[in-house]
Amino acid sequence: MTEFMPLIDDLLVTEEEANNLTYFAFAKPLNGKPLNGKPHKAEPALAPTKASVGVLPDVLAGRYRIERLLGAGGMGAVYRARDLLSEQFGDPDPYIALKILSEEFAESPDASALLYSEFALTRRLRHDNVLRPHTFEVDTDCQRAFITMELMRGLTLDKLLCERPLGLPWKELRDIALPLLDALAYAHARGVLHGDIKPSNVMLSEEGVRLFDFGLGQAGEGILPGLPHLSRNRFNAWTPGYAAPELLEGQTLSASADVYGVACVIYELAGGKHPFRRLPSTEARAGYLDRELHPPKNLPKHCWPALHKALAFDAADRTITAAQLRDAMGATSSWLQRLRLRA
Ligand SMILES: Nc1ncnc2c1ncn2[C@@H]1O[C@H](COP(=O)(O)OP(=O)(O)OP(=O)(O)O)[C@@H](O)[C@H]1O
Ligand SMILES: [Mg+2]
Repeated sequence: MTEFMPLIDDLLVTEEEANNLTYFAFAKPLNGKPLNGKPHKAEPALAPTKASVGVLPDVLAGRYRIERLLGAGGMGAVYRARDLLSEQFGDPDPYIALKILSEEFAESPDASALLYSEFALTRRLRHDNVLRPHTFEVDTDCQRAFITMELMRGLTLDKLLCERPLGLPWKELRDIALPLLDALAYAHARGVLHGDIKPSNVMLSEEGVRLFDFGLGQAGEGILPGLPHLSRNRFNAWTPGYAAPELLEGQTLSASADVYGVACVIYELAGGKHPFRRLPSTEARAGYLDRELHPPKNLPKHCWPALHKALAFDAADRTITAAQLRDAMGATSSWLQRLRLRA
């Protein structure tokens, strides 16, 4: 048995990291009364500490040898593992990533359903810029469900931002923003909402940009109808700095909420600063921070109106889709176009 004893330092997250973690809250009925399906605000029931995964076998499901921890989030942990079966058949790259729920979450039936839903939603998406899932499995000995998926080698955007605190020049920014928006527009077109767009859920991998972690995703009406429908009244989760105000106020996830999250990420990449100082969007709205919003340093002028619209606090004003934002950012400015025509 391998004991994954997390260091105390690993369990305590810095303020910076805490801002990036997804908060999970089991919403409680107010004063014991039913919620009647009305929007409400759930209090986080779990502190934003990295989840403890506890003791895991060396090899899961008789096949996957756990090698090392790649990352821990609000719900569980992701390990690099070696697929012993593919290795036996001579696969030159038998490495995979394996996502497993933390001990406390593993006991909740909702959590396994949430993990399965993450798998099913991701599997619905076949796109160069979306992580490729492999399988959903349960280790019968330790009774833990897990997902296996492609091992991404690279940097998540939160790490990239630490290395590049002043943001990225337009050429580099464009090479991340356009594939990211392509992935999101494609997911929306396939009826899949992400629900937790933030820098640590986007990887700049050796094989290009990958959007991942559909753990809070949802399928649209009539899509994957057999999936258990997890009520946001029972299970609420958000990442304060990237969740749109309506989500923090208990409304259901929408494509427009994903657009708000992706716009915050692109804004941050363009100048190194989050548009609203990483404040929860409801607080930023109460402080009228949108009135002080300036175009980020490295963003060409022609992209600003679209990005600005995508950052609207009020969903009714956020009248832009991921595909439209992609088109606006991918368009060449009329000045550049004129220059090219003259050449
Ligand atoms: N397929 C993968 N290949 C390599 N690293 C990965 C992979 N999947 C996840 N990671 C790493 O593990 C971290 C946590 O993964 P993930 O976001 O899926 O978990 P989570 O528990 O949902 O996190 P959070 O709740 O904070 O969003 C990622 O930020 C990334 O660093
Ligand atoms: Mg994540």
